[in-house]
Amino acid sequence: MKKQLIALVFALLPGFAMAAGGHGVALDEANIDLSDKASLQDGARTFTNYCMGCHSAQYQRYERVATDLGIPEQVMLDNLVFSDGSLIGDHMKIGMRPEDSKVWFGAAPPDLTMVARVRGEDWLYSYMRSFYEDSSRPLGWNNTVFENVGMPNVLGELQGRQIKGCKPMPVKDGNKVVRDPLTGEAMLEEQCDVLTVVEGTGTQTEEEFDTTVRNLVAFLSYSADPIKETRHRIGVYVLLYLAFFFVFAYLLKREYWRDVH
Ligand code: HEC
Repeated sequence: MKKQLIALVFALLPGFAMAAGGHGVALDEANIDLSDKASLQDGARTFTNYCMGCHSAQYQRYERVATDLGIPEQVMLDNLVFSDGSLIGDHMKIGMRPEDSKVWFGAAPPDLTMVARVRGEDWLYSYMRSFYEDSSRPLGWNNTVFENVGMPNVLGELQGRQIKGCKPMPVKDGNKVVRDPLTGEAMLEEQCDVLTVVEGTGTQTEEEFDTTVRNLVAFLSYSADPIKETRHRIGVYVLLYLAFFFVFAYLLKREYWRDVH
């Protein structure tokens, strides 16, 4: 029993480690859907347009992305491949040299092929939505999920100006909103360090922006594990086969053991 308990504790350890990964900042759930091709395509478009100026995805090829996401080769080349002279079979590399970017931003932008595995989807989803104006920073931006980050707020024109301040927020008990027992209305309390988008300053509404980021995170998650969907599909067939095979194996066993008893 003791041994089993110890084994259980070890089995749960990675979960605790993950839970501590957010450095105390509450992360929003990304809720991505890897089987949604349109979502992945939109994410690929955002990634090549807004991220590949600085970040590569060098363990991934354009051709593979086109095939997996159902994008015709020519459409991919015309709309999603921007570096001069790149071919469809090339890795998704960029021209910026790490030595230069280190001088420009104070840190080199890391390759993002695997970032969804390293940071997790919820972290990415929260990070991309948590840039806010902070005049004390060299670029005028900071991030609640990644304090003093060197990366500029590249999706700022879509999201609009986000500022940190105090505002009345619903009181929560765990995940549940606490309601006034008499009126049934959600109870509010003044909270500070809350991010708010200044209305009308972005080209997308808050919901549209959340979807843009969700799709982007879906693409990064696909990129970190391109055969996940295939694996799950094959897994179902394997289990069905095993279930089917089990019946015959069992009948055969009964047949063999009939004379032994
Ligand atoms: C103008 C250059 C630039 C662009 C464009 C850019 N980034 Fe960055 N990014 C950086 C830099 C520089 C860092 C390193 C920041 C640091 O360590 O302080 C970074 C860091 C990150 C990190 C954190 C990686 C880690 O694990 O530490 C993520 C995730 C990220 N970028 C995602 C994106 C995505 C997604 C886009 C496109 C929407 C994007 N970036 C566009 C410059 C850029």
